[in-house]
Amino acid sequence: MTDSKRKILVTSALPYANGPIHLGHLVEYIQTDIWVRYQKLRGNQCTYVCADDAHGTPIMLKADQMGISPQELIDKVSAEHQRDFSGFMVGFDNYYSTHSEENKYFASNIYTALRDGGHIAKKTITQAYDPEKEMFLPDRFVKGDCPKCGEQDQYGDSCEKCGATYSPVELKNAYSAVSGAKPIEKESEHYFFKLGNFESFLRTWVDNHVQEHMIHKLNEWFESGLQNWDISRDAPYWGFEIPDAPGKYFYVWLDAPIGYMASFKNWCDKNDVDFDEYWSESSETELYHFIGKDIAYFHTLFWPAMLEGAGYRKPNGVFCHGFLTVDGQKMSKSRGTFIMAETYLNHLRPEYLRYYFAAKLSSGIDDIDLNLEDFRMRVNADLVNKVVNIASRCAGFIKKKFDGEMSTDLAVPALYEEAIAAGEIIANAYENREFGKAMREIMAIADKANQYIDAAEPWVLAKQEGKEQEVQDCCSMGINLFRVIVSYLAPVLPQVAEDVQAFLNLSDMKWDSIQQPLLGHKINKFKPLMQRVEEEKITAILDETKVALEAAAASADTNKSASSGPLSEDPIEDTITFEDFAKVDLRVVRIAKAEHVKGANKLLQLTLDLGGESRNVFAGIKSAYAPEELEGKLTVMVANLAPRKMKFGVSEGMVLAAGPGGEDIWILSPDEGAQPGMRIK
Ligand code: MSP
Ligand code: ZN
Repeated sequence: MTDSKRKILVTSALPYANGPIHLGHLVEYIQTDIWVRYQKLRGNQCTYVCADDAHGTPIMLKADQMGISPQELIDKVSAEHQRDFSGFMVGFDNYYSTHSEENKYFASNIYTALRDGGHIAKKTITQAYDPEKEMFLPDRFVKGDCPKCGEQDQYGDSCEKCGATYSPVELKNAYSAVSGAKPIEKESEHYFFKLGNFESFLRTWVDNHVQEHMIHKLNEWFESGLQNWDISRDAPYWGFEIPDAPGKYFYVWLDAPIGYMASFKNWCDKNDVDFDEYWSESSETELYHFIGKDIAYFHTLFWPAMLEGAGYRKPNGVFCHGFLTVDGQKMSKSRGTFIMAETYLNHLRPEYLRYYFAAKLSSGIDDIDLNLEDFRMRVNADLVNKVVNIASRCAGFIKKKFDGEMSTDLAVPALYEEAIAAGEIIANAYENREFGKAMREIMAIADKANQYIDAAEPWVLAKQEGKEQEVQDCCSMGINLFRVIVSYLAPVLPQVAEDVQAFLNLSDMKWDSIQQPLLGHKINKFKPLMQRVEEEKITAILDETKVALEAAAASADTNKSASSGPLSEDPIEDTITFEDFAKVDLRVVRIAKAEHVKGANKLLQLTLDLGGESRNVFAGIKSAYAPEELEGKLTVMVANLAPRKMKFGVSEGMVLAAGPGGEDIWILSPDEGAQPGMRIK
């Protein structure tokens, strides 16, 4: 341990505890993880903490809907989140929950300090209230007709048709999305954080700690004035009660960022680390938050102001990233591009995506597009054909002809030097989150290594007499370059790095170790390090995504687009014309046979009788029905859906079912008397 070792605490945003991790989330966790792994490989003392964001109305209502307690819901979701993160090799040092003793302590502590410092105001406000459910309704839980254009079923804050913004009390024919009841207006006293008190502090802080790309946005916020922030919610609310205000709770966003401290404190206690060294106002350690641009306001204004008001250190940087699009468009349920982490991992190894994201990431806030064809080609071209190819071209000769022993001299020292010299550029690129640049630099070295081997032609030399030394030298040179390249890629490809460490018989893959080339060193047998990404795998991911979405098992980001009561569980995204609808051929069918599908955990295979004609359909309803319950039942199918080739066979249509997922899925069943084959009009 040297004194120059930096002490760094890093966080990613805390995912909401009411939905699964999807590929959009992973942009952030993979970006952060690469940065953290890079710091660790450089020998810095870097700690990476995260947690589930476990409070708030949507989580309370979702648990309610599922008939379980909020605690049960957040426990279940936390286990799923951690499974998915570890599947993607996101190596948190600690993963915790905002519903924890530590967080309760720090939330009270910070609130009390703010109150005593004169930064809390009280004010009575009027809000929409659900008289049936006896709760105040967040804007997103009030729906009705737009006061401006009359569009039906709009949320309480804005109209999706005409873009108007308004308050929920202005909606016409308003109803509660929770119970369907007509909301009334009700008064209540709320607690506010006086953000304006921190304006001059924030103006200076922002200039030095936020990306250039964000400063413009922040200036807009300053210009429109820093408003008091409502930090309290009335019971019933799932969160922490405010210490001096019984029946009032901290708004979820108050204790969410405090969750960073709580998770770190929890880790400190387990590892005997001094919490105050990291969080006291005079701390010399570094603190960085990685977040999506949608939550910048909370992290670049509220959060530093809270820390300032309560006498804690402020972050050294808040790093915003852009949003993931799939094939150029917003991830969407209706387009079937809302791909879950779990679904991806059922078919492909995580490092392909880690590399692809790395290749596309910069320090900016531009959106990142996952083009699935480009993804496949890029990973195959760069990782398989370029990088792994170097080792597979050289390793065999060393093993077979020289008993695994590498040459005692470097064939082309200048080429090795060049690869080492690039290390500084690559290191700077990692440090500055210019991962795309880092990947380009690394691939340029791989290109040179391949050109070198192409020119040296060890496979030709190997057939000539008296050229043994040349073969050994050139293959050893190739292996040495390969080692440098994989060391540079280690933050992105941790499993590959580990496998290469074993193959090359090394004690570590640290950044500085490559200063010494491997000379007279013995390596082990080469095993294939990485397969190509096959097109079928991508198809399988998309198929499974459709099934998952059809089964309504996936509900993502419900915190932002509030789940909306018993009648509609998703906002209606796109409308179709009558002509579109008329194209759908809906038929009554009898389920002639229902069977389990080997290897599928969500699907049942159905043989449907359309009154003479028979169809094979895979339906994602296994969690709700046993095959024997279904046989003989009538249901409704889309009969003219184009056949789809799935992993298990061809699906020739779709049966209609509804429900939130799990056991709660119901297939539609027409009354007896309807006949198989009848068309629904
Ligand atoms: N719970 C809050 C964060 C609290 S931090 C104190 C939240 N949760 S979230 O689950 O909605 O998002 C977690 C992180 O994932 C956020 O930084 C968000 O920007 C990021 N992303 C969610 N969807 C994303 C994409 N489609 N693309 C890229 N990042 C995305 O916000
Ligand atoms: Zn409108």
